[in-house]
Amino acid sequence: MLQTHDVCVEINKKKILKNIKFDVPAGKITALIGPNGSGKSTLMRAISGEISYQGKIFINERDINFMKAWELAAIRAVLPQNSSVAFPFTVAEVIHIGLRNSTESSTDHLINDALDCVGLLSLAKREYSQLSGGEQQRVQLARVLAQVWSPLIDGSAKWIFLDEPVSSLDISYQLEVMNIMQNYADRGGGVLTIMHDLNLTAMYADNVGLLHNGKLLCFGTPSQVMNDKILSEAYSCEIKVNKTPKNDKIFILPQATNT
Ligand SMILES: Nc1ncnc2c1ncn2[C@@H]1O[C@H](COP(=O)(O)OP(=O)(O)OP(=O)(O)O)[C@@H](O)[C@H]1O
Ligand SMILES: [Mg+2]
Repeated sequence: MLQTHDVCVEINKKKILKNIKFDVPAGKITALIGPNGSGKSTLMRAISGEISYQGKIFINERDINFMKAWELAAIRAVLPQNSSVAFPFTVAEVIHIGLRNSTESSTDHLINDALDCVGLLSLAKREYSQLSGGEQQRVQLARVLAQVWSPLIDGSAKWIFLDEPVSSLDISYQLEVMNIMQNYADRGGGVLTIMHDLNLTAMYADNVGLLHNGKLLCFGTPSQVMNDKILSEAYSCEIKVNKTPKNDKIFILPQATNT
């Protein structure tokens, strides 16, 4: 379980997050959605232990403020919204960086497995900076997966925190990455992912948290959170939530404003 209790973040005297409180279960996909600037990345950075905050954050019932960096690295891996690599590292080296504190015996094996998982094993020796945007994003996901490869540690969940993991991907790789998340959750791991694609969110997420102006507007299942009124108000545009006739699955259409 990942829990936040009244988490507030203030940067330069501006309140970026206001009293965020939710419980995120392991073994499920939880998506954070919300408009640009609503505080999603800031919340993920707080939960990852990267910025200071008021309130409490617990991962597997441990207060992250009292965990050492290597303890955090053993149970959670983070895909930031933007990842830059300053040196001419190869793809394999980029993933190796995430394994500095790994307790796994064979890191080479792990790197290969993680690259295979995202379909990029053949690029292991290529220079990272020469890859396409989508390939780089999948390498970064492989780095995250390699760090917390087995989703359980002594019966407790490990966690992947992903900030817009499909933003640079074509539709086929979007589905592949969502399936990787699903698989990690099905094996007991915790998945918290920031999403802008509301249809993929409705399709894959077990729980959705909607942020707006630094506040958590609602948290629940996709059908609880994703309705016309809530989404249209949060995103300040007309959004229509539909259901498929056959299996009642939600799909979302924005309404064009110029017709
Ligand atoms: N270090 C900072 N200094 C000043 N303002 C910041 C800082 N970090 C974030 N903010 C502000 O906090 C707000 C929330 O930013 P955040 O990056 O969390 O939004 P987001 O929901 O992830 O948006 P997006 O969908 O565009 O990625 C924004 O208004 C942003 O400008
Ligand atoms: Mg963001």
